[in-house]
Amino acid sequence: MFDNNTVNLEILKKRAFNLRWAAVPDGVIPLTAADPDFPCAPEIAEEICRFSRERYFCYGPPEGLPEFKNSIADYFSTKRNIVTSPAQVFPVDSAAFGIYITCKAFLSPGDEAIIFDPVDFLFRYSIETVGAVAVPFQIPPGPAAIDFERLTTLINKNTKLICLCNPLNPTGKVFTKEELTLLSDIAIKNNLVILSDEIWSDTTFTPYKYTSVASLSEEVNSRTVTITGFSKAYGLAGLRIGAVMANNKELFSKLIAASLHGSTVHGANVISQIAATTALTKCEYWLADFLKHLQSMRDICVDGLNEVNGFNCISPQGCYVAFADIKGTGKTSSEIHELIMNQAKVAVVPGLKQWFGEGAEGYIRLSFATSKEILQEALSRIKSVIN
Ligand SMILES: Cc1ncc(COP(=O)(O)O)c(C=O)c1O
Repeated sequence: MFDNNTVNLEILKKRAFNLRWAAVPDGVIPLTAADPDFPCAPEIAEEICRFSRERYFCYGPPEGLPEFKNSIADYFSTKRNIVTSPAQVFPVDSAAFGIYITCKAFLSPGDEAIIFDPVDFLFRYSIETVGAVAVPFQIPPGPAAIDFERLTTLINKNTKLICLCNPLNPTGKVFTKEELTLLSDIAIKNNLVILSDEIWSDTTFTPYKYTSVASLSEEVNSRTVTITGFSKAYGLAGLRIGAVMANNKELFSKLIAASLHGSTVHGANVISQIAATTALTKCEYWLADFLKHLQSMRDICVDGLNEVNGFNCISPQGCYVAFADIKGTGKTSSEIHELIMNQAKVAVVPGLKQWFGEGAEGYIRLSFATSKEILQEALSRIKSVIN
């Protein structure tokens, strides 16, 4: 399912935007936005066709189709060990929108929210869009110890929210239960809402174990908003679908109000909800195979990057991106990005503040959700240009 023959470059060059095949010049391999080069599970396409053949595309309920709510609640309770029910989850038209409405619901202008550094730009973007201030908290790449003492010094009376990204894009760190406990203790002590973005949780590599922060205790569950999505594990980015869960009824009401779903100004479309439901109920076998493929691509990618002079790459514990330290080249992230783009014809994401925060300088990020052949070609081009 995940060999080179299944990568349809003709289609990808027409449909894969966001810095990918359709957005780069011919001949460039885009290891940029984390979006797989493989088609989705066939069951998802079949269900979309079956639904469409009935030719009814009516308004759905503002809080989501019952089958969607049931499958998400079942996923969170059985796979993530979180006490929940279908009434406490609703669909959003992307995990990105889930992050945004959480910021809208719990932050006022002038409030502060803690974000990891480095982390995906969506957190800072959403916090600043609602007029609040993003306060970065450094998370070292790999298994190095996190300085929780420092976290306490970043919190003041304006701090309202702490944003977790677990596994952490771009470093691929999977937080341990002990780390999450320390973090949630700080949230409880300071009465903070926890936003837990778990879109990458299904791509956790062996032997690492994934823990959802809301599973730690009833107290943590009652102050946590958990967000997931279907762009990463199931390759459905263009369907714009995700889910938000809050098991505290007060938090849930605020989130629904912020979503604007009740007024139909905003909402998650029904086809995407059907696709996501199918992913969770029928495509576990596909995800297991995808994960197996990703784990071997991860090893090829990390080994290949470590053969490049001046590069040093720690193996990610989760996420299908490699975050390579390029400081040994004596060049900046932008310079390496340009050199690789212009001479190796491989597009990567430079570690700029606009993408991942200040802590990303000196790094580049590469997605390895592609075939072995494409990945090896990209790595060999990078190696020959830099070495
Ligand atoms: C941590 C994280 N959250 C959210 C998203 C966005 O997901 P979606 O496509 O559902 O908006 C991404 C995409 O890269 C991500 O890395």
